[in-house]
Amino acid sequence: MTGEREQGRGGGGTARAEVAGDACIESLQRWRAEALAAVEEASDEAALERIRVRYLGRREGRVSGVLRRMGSLAPADRPRVGAAANRVRKELAAALKRGLARIASAASSTGHPPDLTLPPRQRWRGTVHPVSRAIDDIWKIFRSLGFVRVRGPEVETEWYNFVALNTPLDHPAADEQDTLFLDPGPHPRGAASPGLLLRSHTSPVQIRTMERHEPPIRIIAPGMVYRRDTYDATHTPAFAQIEGLVVDEGVTFVDFKATLAEFARRFWGPGTQIRFRPSFFPFTEPSAEVDVKRAIVREDGREEETDWIEIMGAGMVDPAVLDNVGYDSERYTGWAFGMGPGRVAMLRHGVRDLRLFYENDMRFLGQFR
Ligand code: DAH
Repeated sequence: MTGEREQGRGGGGTARAEVAGDACIESLQRWRAEALAAVEEASDEAALERIRVRYLGRREGRVSGVLRRMGSLAPADRPRVGAAANRVRKELAAALKRGLARIASAASSTGHPPDLTLPPRQRWRGTVHPVSRAIDDIWKIFRSLGFVRVRGPEVETEWYNFVALNTPLDHPAADEQDTLFLDPGPHPRGAASPGLLLRSHTSPVQIRTMERHEPPIRIIAPGMVYRRDTYDATHTPAFAQIEGLVVDEGVTFVDFKATLAEFARRFWGPGTQIRFRPSFFPFTEPSAEVDVKRAIVREDGREEETDWIEIMGAGMVDPAVLDNVGYDSERYTGWAFGMGPGRVAMLRHGVRDLRLFYENDMRFLGQFR
C-alpha cells in the first residue's frame, strides 16, 4: 500500500485527486470486509446472489462502480485504484464461489439446509440371535467340563434318525415324532429304503460320532431339527436342539446328575435345583425328563422360586445303541440328553411364545441388542 501511495505522489497528481484516490481505496477495503463477512454468514444461494449484485453487479455493484468511474480519477491514481479494485473483485468472486460450495454441500438433495431439530436416524447394529446366544452360553459351560462341539447333517436317513437309536420304524416313537420325509411319492417304510428325512432330533449325531470315534466320548451337538408339529406357543416345525453324549468306562447316572447340576447352577445361578422324572426314550434306559427350578430375586429383594420347568429329555444310553455302533456294551456305559435352547431362551428372557424366536420379526429381535 505504502509503495503505491508513494508512487501516486511521485506521479504528481493534484491534492484533491490524491484524496479521491485514497478515499476510493478506503471504501474498497471497507466493502471488502463487509462483503466477506456477509458471505460468511449467508445461509442460502439467494443471500449469496444479493451480495454478488451489491458488490460485483455490473450496473449497481460497488466494486464494479469504482472500475466504471476510473475516468473521473486523476490519471496518476488510476493504476493503484484500478489494481486495488481488481484485487477486491477477484477476492470477493472467489469467496462467493466458496460460499456456494459450502451451501451446496450442506444442503440436502432438495436444496434445503439440514433440519438440525430432527431426531437422529437409528443406527442398525446386528446382534447374536437369542437362541444362538443360549446355545453359545450352554456350550461354553460344557466346554469347560471337557466337551467338544460337533455337528451332523440336517438331512438324515431312517437309520441314523431312528433305527440305530433303537427305534424300529413301526415303533410308536417314529410316528409320534411326525417326521418330515423327503422321499417323493408313497414312502415304503421297509428297512431296505434309504428313507431320507429331515432329522427330527439331534440324537443321530450320537450315532455318527460313535461310528467314527472310540470312547471316551464327550460331545455337545447343537443344530436345527424338524417336525410335522402343530404351530403354537411351544411348538414350531423347525427348532433348535442341543444333544449331549458321554460314553466311557465306568460312567454312571451319578456322573450324569452331578454334571447337569453343575451346568444348571452355572447357567441359572447357585440357587437352581434340578429334578429327574422317570420317562421313556427308546435309546436310553433308564430315561428321564429333567426339570429346573430357579431361585429369582424379586424387585423388593425377596427370594422367590419359579415353577419346575422341563428343559430336556435324557437317560443312560441303552446298551442296544452301543451295540449298533460296534461298541462293547459290557465295557462302556454312557449318558445322553437332548435340550431345547429355545425353551432355555424363553425362560431367560421371559418370552411366552416360542414362535417369536423363529419368525425373525426385527421388531422382536431388535430388543435383544
Ligand atoms: N431326542 C429326544 C427328543 O428329541 C430327546 C432326548 C432324550 C435326547 C433322551 C437324548 C436322550 O439324548 O438321552 O425328544
